[in-house]
Amino acid sequence: MHTLARALLAEIEGYLAATGLTPTKFGVAAVNDGHLVANLRRGNSVTLKTADRVRAYMRARAAAPAAITAAAVPAAQRLPAPLPRRASGGRPARRQQAAVEAGGRREPAAGKRIALIIGGGIAAYKCLDLIRRLRERQIAVRAVLTRAAQAFVTPLSVAALSGDRVFSDLFDLDQEREIGHIRLSREADLIVVAPATADLIAKMAGGHADDLASCVLLATDKPVLVAPAMNPRMWQHAATQRNVSLLAADGIAFVGPAVGEMAEAGEAGLGRLAEVPDLLAAIEDCLRQGAPAAATGASPERGRAPGPLAGRHVIVTSGPTHEPIDPVRYIANRSSGKQGAAIAAEALALGARVTLVAGPSQLAAPAGVDLVAVETAQQMLDAVLNALPCDMAIFAAAVADWRVATTSAQKIKKGANLAAPRLELVENPDILKTIAGAPPGRRPPLVIGFAAETSTVVEHALKKRKAKGADWILANDVSPTTGIMGGDRNTVHLVTAAGVEDWPDLPKAEVARRLVARAAAWLAENTALT
Ligand SMILES: Cc1cc2nc3c(=O)[nH]c(=O)nc-3n(C[C@H](O)[C@H](O)[C@H](O)COP(=O)(O)O)c2cc1C
Repeated sequence: MHTLARALLAEIEGYLAATGLTPTKFGVAAVNDGHLVANLRRGNSVTLKTADRVRAYMRARAAAPAAITAAAVPAAQRLPAPLPRRASGGRPARRQQAAVEAGGRREPAAGKRIALIIGGGIAAYKCLDLIRRLRERQIAVRAVLTRAAQAFVTPLSVAALSGDRVFSDLFDLDQEREIGHIRLSREADLIVVAPATADLIAKMAGGHADDLASCVLLATDKPVLVAPAMNPRMWQHAATQRNVSLLAADGIAFVGPAVGEMAEAGEAGLGRLAEVPDLLAAIEDCLRQGAPAAATGASPERGRAPGPLAGRHVIVTSGPTHEPIDPVRYIANRSSGKQGAAIAAEALALGARVTLVAGPSQLAAPAGVDLVAVETAQQMLDAVLNALPCDMAIFAAAVADWRVATTSAQKIKKGANLAAPRLELVENPDILKTIAGAPPGRRPPLVIGFAAETSTVVEHALKKRKAKGADWILANDVSPTTGIMGGDRNTVHLVTAAGVEDWPDLPKAEVARRLVARAAAWLAENTALT
């Protein structure tokens, strides 16, 4: 979530509390930030009336980002002073209130010091870049490496980049005499744990202090920001989620984890270390506000029910289909399944039960989804029909338009006297059209299709939305030069009955986050839980 959005979240919540407005109506367009809405009161959105004021506030804020003045917003559209967030854990609310009270007098991050605790995860290497970027911003870094971390990055690299000595051993006489674990924990303005392993998170939650990192964390009286990074199954594990909840209730801030591919081949889902720009934004936010901010990307609430999609069933299709020619050959396309997997992980993280109907892909399905692995378009349609009913269906799969009319039972042979085979193609069933045209009761309330095109993308999408009877279409240009097919980023246009929105070039995980937040808000406004 953007810094601006985070600040607005606190203010909007205060505004809603102050005015007694019920946050039931659709406010996504107004605040133009799905995360903000998704996080607002667990997925409820703001009234249109409120949204107008928010829009005016954002315009004024954008014009004067450092310190918005009362005069910048017409009185009728001014948001009143925010109230403390009604948080379940006491400390986050108090800290947020303190940050909000700081208001216009946000401190600069430059000149501050952080203690960076590096855990023993594969993402530890990203800390080297993080340290460089922090120092570019005149933020001093003193690093503590766990024993395991030293298997992933060397103390020498960390020392060279941080320009300070590196600390790792609780019982090192020299280190303890020179700085000491208590000083380490108190001299920093902020303690950052990145990557935070499942083990470190568990130690923090349990109050352990059997090594330097955990000692520093237990002894500190400073804000702590945790950036988890681990395998999706480790992240989803009840023990990790329990520990994260405990820490969140203690006032610890989180950034990430993000959705995406893991270092382990073929693994993907929620568990990646937040990207360095997101880490920087969260750190700078904490340093400026003097208090932990809400998480960038996945907040601690994410990844476990209840979320805004709790009680909802979401069907997602992903990947290519393979249409057999003979027992060893097939017609395929270049879809990687990344966008669909990111959407499924996101819906899961917001509390939905997710059925992922996936064509053949190198990616492992996000942990926690009900996976139905299919090969052909017909199998995909059957699986989707079988998984109905659902609250929304998102068709991100690149389904083959045609299949071979007659599949050969034997491998088609090549030979000097044999002509090259001629393949007769027949049209595959249209999954999007079939589901969008299903009878009431069977048709999901929200049907979202993807339109991958290589020319006149938006025009095609506008026609496709009508022709298929879909509610929304996400259109993207999959020409080879865009690198979208198989890549990690996507540039989409959201086509709805209200018009076309051009989204910027974004990581696929971010596209998923925006789309699912938007869809969750739509469901909250337009449908009841069944
Ligand atoms: C190759 C490899 C990669 C690992 N990656 C992670 C990871 O990304 N996240 C995690 O929580 N644990 C990971 N582990 C396990 C931790 O290294 C292990 O739990 C260790 O005890 C953590 O120690 P620490 O929390 O003191 O740093 C990995 C282990 C290995 C061998």
